[in-house]
Amino acid sequence: MSKDLHTGFDETQYPHINQGLAGIVAFSTTKSFIDGAVGELIYAGYNIDTLAENATFEEVCFLLWNDRLPNAEELESLNKSLISERELPSPVIDYIKSTDKSAEPMAVLRTAVSMLADTDPTKGKFDEALFMDQAISITAKIPTIIAAFDRSRKGKDIVAPLSSGSTAFNFLYMLNGEEPGTQAEKTMDLCLILHAEHGMNASTFTARTVCATMSDIYSSVTAAIGALKGPLHGGANTAVMNTLLELEAEGKDADAVAFTKAKLAKKEKIMGFGHRVYKTFDPRGRHLQKMSEALSKETGHEELYKWSMDMLNTMKSEKNIDPNVDFFSASVYYSIGIQPDLYTCIFTMSRISGWTGHFMEQAANNRLIRPRALYVGEKNLPWTPVEER
Ligand code: SDX
Repeated sequence: MSKDLHTGFDETQYPHINQGLAGIVAFSTTKSFIDGAVGELIYAGYNIDTLAENATFEEVCFLLWNDRLPNAEELESLNKSLISERELPSPVIDYIKSTDKSAEPMAVLRTAVSMLADTDPTKGKFDEALFMDQAISITAKIPTIIAAFDRSRKGKDIVAPLSSGSTAFNFLYMLNGEEPGTQAEKTMDLCLILHAEHGMNASTFTARTVCATMSDIYSSVTAAIGALKGPLHGGANTAVMNTLLELEAEGKDADAVAFTKAKLAKKEKIMGFGHRVYKTFDPRGRHLQKMSEALSKETGHEELYKWSMDMLNTMKSEKNIDPNVDFFSASVYYSIGIQPDLYTCIFTMSRISGWTGHFMEQAANNRLIRPRALYVGEKNLPWTPVEER
C-alpha cells in the first residue's frame, strides 16, 4: 500500500525531493526573519543593524526568549541570573580536567553540556515551567566550559567565573586570566549578538527536532552542538582561519587570488563563502568586516584583511558568491587573541540563545517532526538461505 490513509501521501507519486530540504518551510516562528535576496536579518522584530548598534548580548537573549526587549528591571534580573549560574557542577569540572588535552574543544563542549543534565534536579523533565531557567543555566555555563577546557589543556589553572560583568567580559577574563579591555569586550559582545539566531539553520532545526519528541533541553542542545560542529555550518569559521594561516605560511606576499582560483579549479569549497538562504552579502558579515579591518590595522595584521578582501573579490568575480557570517568572524577572533579551534565554541556560546528560544517555541505548539522519504530500493524479494548467497 503506497497511499497514506491519514495524509493521502503517495510516495510512489511523490514528484520531487528537496535535497537538503532546500526551500521547505517547516514552521512559523517569531524568532527571526531572513530576506536572503536583499540581505536582511531581523531578530523578533528588531533589525540586526539596530541590535548591533544598540543592544547587549544579554538583551538579545531576553528578546529571543520572550519576543520583546526587557525593561531595566528585567534586564538587571536576567544579568543577575546569568551571573549566578556561571559556576560548573564539580563532575563537569572533573571531566574537563581529566579529558584528553588533544580533544576537540567542540567535542568537549558537547560532552560537558550533556553532563549538565546529570546534576539538574529536574533531570531535564519536559516541562514548560522549567525551560527558561534551564536556558539561562546552560547559556551561563557554556562560556565557563570553553574557558576551563582551554586553560586545562594548556596546563594552566582554571579561572573561576566572576560574580559581575557581562557574558563577554567574563568569558575573556576566564579565558586569559586577566580582565579584557573595553574594545575587546565590545568586540566579543557584538560577535555574540551577530551569531545568536538565524532561523531554520541546520543546528536550530536539529534542536527543534529533538524537542518535538518531548525529549529534554540538554539532549536538544547537545544535538545542536553536534550539528553546528560541522565545517559546512558553524565549523567554517575555524576552517577560514586555517585558510588564512595557510596564506600566512607562504609569507606576507602570498597571492590570495591565485590561491582561491586554484582551489576553485579543483572544485573545492572555499570556507566562509556561500549560503543556502543569502544570495547577497550576509548582513552580519558587514559588521564583522568593519571589525576585521579595524582590528587588523590595530594589531598589525593588515595582511589578513588584504587576503580576505582578495578572496572576497575573487569569489565574487569567479562564482558570484558572497561571504557568510563565518568569513570575517575568523580574523576578528584571531585579532583578539583567540585560538582558531575555539571559534565554533564561541559560535555555540551565542547560538545557545537562539536554540533555546526555538526550543521553547516548539514546545509551546508542538507536533512530532517526521518527514517522509521516497523509497527507491527493491521490494518483497524472495529469501535466499545463507549457504546459497
Ligand atoms: C553558517 O543556514 C544558516 O543560516 C547557517 C548560518 C547560521 O547563522 O546558522 O548562517 C551559519 O553555517 C554559514 C555557512 C558556513 N559554511 C561555509 O562557509 C562552508 C562553505 N559553504 C558551502 O559549503 C555552501 O555555500 C553552504 C553549505 C553554506 C550552502 O550550501 P548549499 O545551499 O547546499 O549550496 P551548494 O553547496 O549546492 O552550492 C551551490 C553552488 C555549487 O556550484 P555548482 O556545483 O552548482 O556549480 O555554489 C557553489 C557550489 O559548488 N558553492 C561554492 C561555495 N558555496 C557554494 N563554491 C565554492 N565555495 C563555496 N563556499
